[in-house]
Amino acid sequence: MCNLTKGYAMSEQKNDPATLTVDGKTVELPVYNASVGPSVIDVRKLYAQTGHFTYDPGFTSTAACDSDITYIDGDKGELLYRGYPIDQLADDSHFLEVCYLLLYGELPDKAQMEDFESRVTNHTMLHEQMTNFYRGFRRDGHPMAIMVGVVGALSAFYHDSTDITDPQQREIASIRMIAKMPTIAAWAYKYSIGQPFVYPRNDLDYASNFLHMCFSVPCEEYKVDPIMAQAMDRIMTLHADHEQNASTSTVRLAGSSDANPFACIAAGVACLWGPAHGGANEAALNMLHEIGTPDQIPEYIARAKDKDDPFRLMGFGHRVYKNYDPRAKVMQQTAKEVLELVGVENSPILQVAQELEKIALEDPYFVERKLYPNVDFYSGIVLSAMGFPTSMFTAIFATSRTVGWIAQWKEMISDPGQRIGRPRQLYTGASHRDYMAVEKR
Ligand code: SDX
Repeated sequence: MCNLTKGYAMSEQKNDPATLTVDGKTVELPVYNASVGPSVIDVRKLYAQTGHFTYDPGFTSTAACDSDITYIDGDKGELLYRGYPIDQLADDSHFLEVCYLLLYGELPDKAQMEDFESRVTNHTMLHEQMTNFYRGFRRDGHPMAIMVGVVGALSAFYHDSTDITDPQQREIASIRMIAKMPTIAAWAYKYSIGQPFVYPRNDLDYASNFLHMCFSVPCEEYKVDPIMAQAMDRIMTLHADHEQNASTSTVRLAGSSDANPFACIAAGVACLWGPAHGGANEAALNMLHEIGTPDQIPEYIARAKDKDDPFRLMGFGHRVYKNYDPRAKVMQQTAKEVLELVGVENSPILQVAQELEKIALEDPYFVERKLYPNVDFYSGIVLSAMGFPTSMFTAIFATSRTVGWIAQWKEMISDPGQRIGRPRQLYTGASHRDYMAVEKR
């Protein structure tokens, strides 16, 4: 058995190594089996043995780490959190229990769940001085700009949980991040609409508390609709973690420099903002509004296929899923439930989305490239029906994904073999040349 780099995970080395011959020299490279999914070829000694780097700019064939947390089978359209299928967790579990599972590796018993829920609940408030940060932003500033700023600023307030070498401080920082993100996101929303901040309540569950902080006002009692709360809880579960996606890889790379956890999560928030990643739910809903009616769909399908047109169908395609994103299936069902509740089950936007999905899934261009709807295709419709502006969609995604970022960061930091991430390059610039005085140029 070969222990890769973590103190607790074992990966079995295959008997037959890979062999590579380059410049007439043949080297043997160890191959390790995964517990499920692709094996890996260990190239850590490749440069020393051959003077060559590997080359994989988009990391399409590169495993940057070993992890026990989340597994995706892109061909089957399967997503497992610590081995449990996402559809079972979305139907039978709840977000805070999923947080416990992602952080500690096993489902909690009753006492463990009560203790975890109590620890999170008692960290939902922000330091009162942090309200000043919001007032430094323009009211029309994008909530993700506020999230990046305020999350990074947490390290200026919680010095007692920034020492990453102390397991106790790592644990406190993890709980604080999970607990405070809904408050930070809700206050970004309140600030953007000029309403007073609403403080978290300890008698509400995680999702209900978030809805309460977003939609209640001091003038009247606000009752959280249980269907809305369940929909929000399910959305958070679906977005909690997703292997080594761009923002999670950003958090790991930031963490590899021993940066404090708040700074690492702020880096993840910044990366998630991109429309090719977590910003796709906002872009997808904006696209559906731009399409407007089903008869406009063929024009947009043609644009998506046109290599000279930068337009892409937002909410379609995925680096890993070459089948239907299992989260999109659950999200589609949630969309129907929420739209029925708000009485717009026949909303034009949902009709455009369903017609667009139908046409795209029959079009050879999308079929050949295995471009299916991803989690972002329906999430915008649900969040819009719940009353959120499109600008809040990615902030909600970030709130959900924080537990995944934290779990992956903890796994990396507690790995005794972890080193600073420092990729190399294929240099294509000028070779050595001497400086020339301006008179001679
Ligand atoms: C998320 O990684 C994760 O796990 C991310 C995520 C998570 O939970 O963390 O799942 C969340 O980010 C979901 C993805 C959200 N993004 C979008 O919906 C934006 C639209 N999708 C594309 O930008 C694209 O599909 C990506 C970015 C998601 C994936 O890009 P890849 O893997 O680099 O694929 P590619 O760009 O190489 O595309 C392969 C082919 C190309 O055509 P050809 O050059 O082969 O002719 O498919 C085409 C692309 O042009 N293509 C699309 C398309 N996506 C890919 N064509 C039209 N519309 C699209 N959406």
